[in-house]
This record gives sequence, structure tokens and C-alpha cells, in this order.
Amino acid sequence: MSMDVISVIRTKRDRGALAPEQIDWVIDAYTRGEVADEQMSALAMAILLNGMSRAEIARWTGAMIASGERMDFSTLRRHTADKHSTGGVGDKITLPLAPLVAACGAAVPQLSGRGLGHTGGTLDKLESIPGWRASLSNSEMLGVLADTGAVVCAAGDGLAPADKKLYALRDVTGTVESIPLIASSIMSKKIAEGTGSLVLDVKTGSGAFMKSIEDARELASTMVELGNDHGVRTRALLTDMSTPLGLTVGNALEVRESVEVLAGGGPADVVELTLALATEMLAAAGLPDADPAKALADGSAMDHWRRMIAAQGGDPGAELPTAREKQPVMVPASGILTRLDAYAVGLAAWRLGAGRARKEDPVQAGAGIELHAKPGDPVTAGRPLMTLYSDTPQTFAYALEALAGSYDIAPQGTEFAVSPIVLERVPG
Ligand code: URA
Repeated sequence: MSMDVISVIRTKRDRGALAPEQIDWVIDAYTRGEVADEQMSALAMAILLNGMSRAEIARWTGAMIASGERMDFSTLRRHTADKHSTGGVGDKITLPLAPLVAACGAAVPQLSGRGLGHTGGTLDKLESIPGWRASLSNSEMLGVLADTGAVVCAAGDGLAPADKKLYALRDVTGTVESIPLIASSIMSKKIAEGTGSLVLDVKTGSGAFMKSIEDARELASTMVELGNDHGVRTRALLTDMSTPLGLTVGNALEVRESVEVLAGGGPADVVELTLALATEMLAAAGLPDADPAKALADGSAMDHWRRMIAAQGGDPGAELPTAREKQPVMVPASGILTRLDAYAVGLAAWRLGAGRARKEDPVQAGAGIELHAKPGDPVTAGRPLMTLYSDTPQTFAYALEALAGSYDIAPQGTEFAVSPIVLERVPG
């Protein structure tokens, strides 16, 4: 079949189904530069508006995987298990989770990203540890994984290059929010990465990509099907992102909280979600009898964390950076905190310098927000509700603007049920 990009765009514009050959051709031609950015933008917009069937999404994902290399961990002779979160505010779960699952016997190859917009990135968080290095060659990655059982690093350029190009294009053309494009983007990288099993943490609520549970469900089931069709044992949890996870938002602040979890403490919601995801990962990896709660309590997860950080040049004992300035936000009236909006807190932390507006911007390691109460907690007028941290105090006013109207306090004695963290499970 001879191909031309205009007929591919017209097919989707007119609500038709793309033929498998059209999909293979357009992804390959775009990766090679034969299809121009403006043509791919038109196609991405047509997909956003008119959708794709599960068969089209599967083919699109396969074509993106085929655009680059596929990693292979079979020499490790250990079950491999990975986790992907669709992103949220205060979502530091990868930090305690990767060494925890390694301590329970699986190998965790975790390719992670940087933050963009109001959600943070795992690599930015780990880079606040003095000396820690995110970029590893494929052989270094395999070496760290073999030695320590877990590696968290940046994806190399060879992995799903079609997605790298297309994601950057979607970011500037208003075409990120399409379930077929998000599902194929995430899964092409995870499948190419070569993990044997995968657990997806699909977040829903104000701080998430997917604001509604219906959309989160659709995204999760699409990705679970894609993974299993490609031989990766995949399952998903739908989890709450209406309020930040834990009590810290910001790079070094989140590392500190993660270390508390590994030391057997930390906020209850972070511990609960870490254990829920570890249990799913170990079961998907064929290790259903492993006991992650024990590995947290007996210090073996902490040992794996120290080895994992040191293997990438980091000093796990080093003091973490702190921001130069801080400002408390006071509780206006005593009562029960009934709402604390994740998006507003994420936006405020970003404005304080914890996140970036463009990919090439630097982030402040010490910037962010420490929460002193979570929904359901009693609060007292005149005491701090949260503390803002930044090296650039001129950003405090701008962060406070983001926080206006972001929380509710009900009178003491009001009945209030805290939302569960894990909302639903999508089995593989
Ligand atoms: N994360 C990705 O990797 N791709 C998307 O499309 C959205 C989030």
C-alpha cells in the first residue's frame, strides 16, 4: 500500500479507523523526519477529538516500541517488577518502593522522569541527594540492578524515540489529554524497558491528569490490556489524588519523608500506598509470599536504599539541602480540616521553585511545602497549617495566591470520613 500522510490525517479526521499499515508507516516516517511536526500535530489532534479503537491503540503502541531498542534483563535471573504512576502531588512512592521490592527478592528497573508543571519528578527528587546521578548507560543500569536489586534512572535516548518526539510535540499542541495517546506513550516506554511485570498507579482527583474516576478507569484498563498483550504481566490500582500524598511536596523534602518511611515511620498514607503497590508488584512478579511490611520494619528495605543511592554516586548519609527562606501559613479558625486541594498545593510548590516551566529549567532542591495537617485532622487557629520553603522569597506571595481557597475547615465535632487511598483495583 502506498502511503501519504494527508490521507492518514483525513482518515482520522473523518472518524475512520487507521489501518495497521498506516499506523506503522506514520510512526516510522515521523521518527525519521519524513512526516513534519505540523502534520503529526494535525493527526494527534484528530486522535484526541475522535479517539482510537483498542486495536488501533495496540498497533500504535507496537509501532512506537519498534521505533527504538528493547532492553533485556534475562541475564539477571530474577523476576523483574516495575511501577508507573501517572503523576501527582507529593508522590514520592518510587523512592521507598523500589528498594522495598528489591529487599523482597524482585529486581526493580525503574526508568523515571522529571517534573513538568504541577507534578514533581522522581529524578528531580533523587538529584537533591548530593552526588546522585540520573543518567546511566544501559550497561551501568544493568550493573546497578544486578548489584543492588533496584535502579532508578533516566530513560536512554534509544528507548521509544517516536514517543520522545511525539510527547514533546503534544506538550506544545494541546494534545496531551487523550487516553489513547497517554496509554500508548506510557506503555511503549514500559514495554521497551523490558520489565517482566508492571503495576500502574493511576491517579484520579484534582492533582492528577485524570480528574474523573471514569477516565482513570478507562486509562487503567487500556494500559493493563496493552501490557498483557505484549507479554508484560500488568495490573493497576486507581488511587486518590484529591489531596497531596504525605506531608511534604518538593524535592529534598520528599526525600526526607521517604527515608522516614524506610526507617519504619512516615505518614500513614505514604506507608499504606507503598505497601499496597509493593504487594501488587511482588504478586505480579511471581513472589506472592514475600512480606513487604516485614522488610520495612526489619531495616532490609533501608539497606537496599543505601546501596542503591551509593551505586549511583549519591551519599545516603549526606545532609539534604534546605531552602534559604521559609514562611508559615496560619490556620484561620479552629476545627477539622476537611479539604486540602492537591492541585493548588502542587501549583504553589511549583511557584516556590520546586518545579519547572520548561524542560531545561533548573529546580530548587530545598523548595516546597510542608503540611502540618491532612484532611480529617483537627487544626487550631493561629498555629501553622503549612510551611512554604524557597530560596527566592519573592515567590511567597505568588504561591499564596495559588493556595487561596485551597482548603476547608469545618467546626469541631463535624462528622468527616477520610477518603481511602486505594479506590479500585484493575486486575491483569
Ligand atoms: N506520561 C507519559 O509518559 N506520556 C503521556 O502521554 C502522559 C504522561
